[in-house]
Amino acid sequence: MKGIILAGGLGSRLFPATKVTNKHLLPVYDRPMIYYPIQALVNAGLDDILIVTGGNSAGDFLKLIGNGKEFGLKHVNYTYQQGEGGIAEALGLAEHFAADDDICVILGDNIIQGNLKKARAAYDAQGGGARILLKEVPDPHRFGVAELEGDRILRIVEKPKEPKSNLAVTGIYFFDHTVFEFIRRLEPSARGELEITDVNNYYIDDGRMCWSVLDGWWTDAGTWESLHRAANLVHEGGANRLDL
Ligand code: DAU
Repeated sequence: MKGIILAGGLGSRLFPATKVTNKHLLPVYDRPMIYYPIQALVNAGLDDILIVTGGNSAGDFLKLIGNGKEFGLKHVNYTYQQGEGGIAEALGLAEHFAADDDICVILGDNIIQGNLKKARAAYDAQGGGARILLKEVPDPHRFGVAELEGDRILRIVEKPKEPKSNLAVTGIYFFDHTVFEFIRRLEPSARGELEITDVNNYYIDDGRMCWSVLDGWWTDAGTWESLHRAANLVHEGGANRLDL
C-alpha cells in the first residue's frame, strides 16, 4: 500500500495567513500542519509516500520535509496541483505514483489522536474496494456526512444543510486502483470542484464501500476555529499516538 497526502488548495478560509504561505505549512501547536498526516501514514507502516501540493510556497515543502529523514523515511515523492480544482482532482494527479497498488489517502489538514493501524488491517482484510473512517461531530454540516441504515452506508452528502446523521466522513480514505476510473467520470460540483464525496458515492453505488468509526479525536484545521481547536487538542493529549 502507498500513502498520499493532499496538500493543495488555496486555503482561502485562512486568509490572510495563506496569502503568503501554504496552509499546510502553518503551525499546529509545536509543528507544521503537514507533519501530522505524514506521521499518521508512517505510523500505519507506509513508507512510500506522495505529497500533492499546490498554491503558494510549494518549494518550501521540499525545504521543510526533504526526503523525510525526520520521519524515518528514505525518500518522499512530490507533485504539484495547478489551481484549486478539488480534492478528487488532486488525487487524480497521483495515478502514476499509485500504479496498481492500494492507497491510503489523507487530507493535509486532518489530524488524529490515534493511529490508522486498525483501519489499515481492516482494509487489507476486506479484499479491495474502498473504506472510509467516520467520526461523530457536533457540526456535521461542515463535512461530508454519512447516511446509514443499520450497518449499511446508503449515501454521503457533502455539507448538507440538514444532516441525516452526526457522522462526518473524515479526510482519510482507503482505495483500490479503480478510484482513478471514478475520478475520470466526475463533473465539477456547484462549487466548481471535483468532489471526493462523489468518488465515495460511486463506490457505494458499486457495493464496494466499507466504513468504520475512527478511535480517538479527529479534527481538520482549515478554518481559524478548527486550527485553534487542533492546537489545543494536540497540546492536551498529543497526536498520532501509537497506544490508542
Ligand atoms: O476534513 C474532512 C472533509 O474534507 C470531508 O468531510 C469532506 O467530505 C471533504 O470534501 C473535505 O471538506 P473541506 O471543505 O473541509 O475540504 P477543503 O477544501 O478544506 O480541503 C481539505 C484538504 O484537501 C486541503 O487541506 C488540501 C486538500 N485539497 C483541497 C482542494 C480543494 C487539495 O489538495 N486540492 C484542492 O483543490
